[in-house]
Amino acid sequence: MNGPKIIVEPPGPNSRKIAEKDSALLMQSFARWYPLVAKRAHGVWVEDVDGNVYLDFNSGIGVTNTGHCHPKVVKAIKEQAERLLHYSLTDFLYEEPVKLAEKLVSITPGRFPKKVFYTNSGTESIEAAIKTARGHFRGTRPYIIAFAGSFHGRTYGSLSLTSSKPVQRRHLGPLLPGVFHAPYPYCYRCPFRQKYPECNLWCVDFIEEWMLKKYVPPEEVAAFVVEPIAGEGGYIVPPPEFFKRLRELADKYGILLVVDEVQSGFGRTGKWFAIEHFGVEPDIIAVAKGIASGLPLGAIIGRAEVMDLPPGSHASTFGGNPVSCAAALATIEVIEEEKLLDNATRVGEYAMKRLRELQEEIPYIGDVRGKGLMIGVELIARDGSPNPKLLQKTLEIAFKKGLLVIGAGVSTIRIAPPLIITQQEMETGLRILEESLREALKEV
Ligand SMILES: Cc1ncc(COP(=O)(O)O)c(C=O)c1O
Repeated sequence: MNGPKIIVEPPGPNSRKIAEKDSALLMQSFARWYPLVAKRAHGVWVEDVDGNVYLDFNSGIGVTNTGHCHPKVVKAIKEQAERLLHYSLTDFLYEEPVKLAEKLVSITPGRFPKKVFYTNSGTESIEAAIKTARGHFRGTRPYIIAFAGSFHGRTYGSLSLTSSKPVQRRHLGPLLPGVFHAPYPYCYRCPFRQKYPECNLWCVDFIEEWMLKKYVPPEEVAAFVVEPIAGEGGYIVPPPEFFKRLRELADKYGILLVVDEVQSGFGRTGKWFAIEHFGVEPDIIAVAKGIASGLPLGAIIGRAEVMDLPPGSHASTFGGNPVSCAAALATIEVIEEEKLLDNATRVGEYAMKRLRELQEEIPYIGDVRGKGLMIGVELIARDGSPNPKLLQKTLEIAFKKGLLVIGAGVSTIRIAPPLIITQQEMETGLRILEESLREALKEV
């Protein structure tokens, strides 16, 4: 396909009918940007129930990194589904999760022995990471330090770390005790109102000088839990030395470094895992989303000596489901065979260059940032403050023109297409995005 095909203004009549039923029957606790009702999808294209075809800049929120319904992934799912659908890993064994674990320990950073624990989603991976870190210290280190502005999921443990929007927590407390937050290193809007690099990474020194020396006894901290690139919080890339400094701090006090690669992993940033951009080896990596191209699966992969919860202390009926594992093995093969890391780097660099050129022309683009195909474009008002109205309008117009793109943080456009996207398809999407932004500027 050359571009989107809009035959009836979205949302069309079939979409509206389903949206009405959806709002009558489903709890509306999610915040949707516009009513896309997806029917089928292939590669980078998504068709709705009215026959409109859209270009996908979302990948079903960072999941379909190999493109929608990649034939190799679909074949692996079908073959596995005919062989063995389920037989719980908590009480029995089967081969697929072992084969996948062999792969996972080889593609994750760190040349040390590792072990894997399987979950079904991102939030469960964070729960597993919290329990593993705390459990490893056998009750002597109950505290966790997370970063304000992050997103780690919505179950009670992960929600206690999540801190990118008040609505995520409102009326839902009390949360897990023993969680402290340091500000996320968001240089464009530095929480300490400093400038990089003159700040000399005060955001890391703050943790030591204020938190660990004043109110969080370091010998009682089990882990730092941090996103290498903040996803829901606004596609924020920390400064280059941030993770080296955090790793040093962790080592100094015997604290584990847990990175949440749920959104940034599986090639999204042009490397298998975003933390590789920072040259740091974490103790535990939490993954989900892109691991199985759309089937529910998550995992934590950690240093073998840390992954030592005793038998009976943690398990999951569905975690490591054989069909999901088969999909994950095929996903990894596709990323390798089709050189999707290189493609993400190449097309991502092209997109960043185009967006930075656009930033020169449009003063309402405050910041363009990202790695590979995880790109944020922060929209601002005249006075430099965030501009959520402009964001919402731009996304709605883009939807009507056939581009599926959503926001992150307060007013950042989040660009995360499948990693198979070509430069030409990226160009098509960016052209629609530019037109939408220019039209939105006339309306808000
Ligand atoms: C960084 C990060 N961690 C955890 C999660 C939670 O994942 P899930 O929705 O699969 O529970 C998300 C979801 O967006 C995420 O972006």
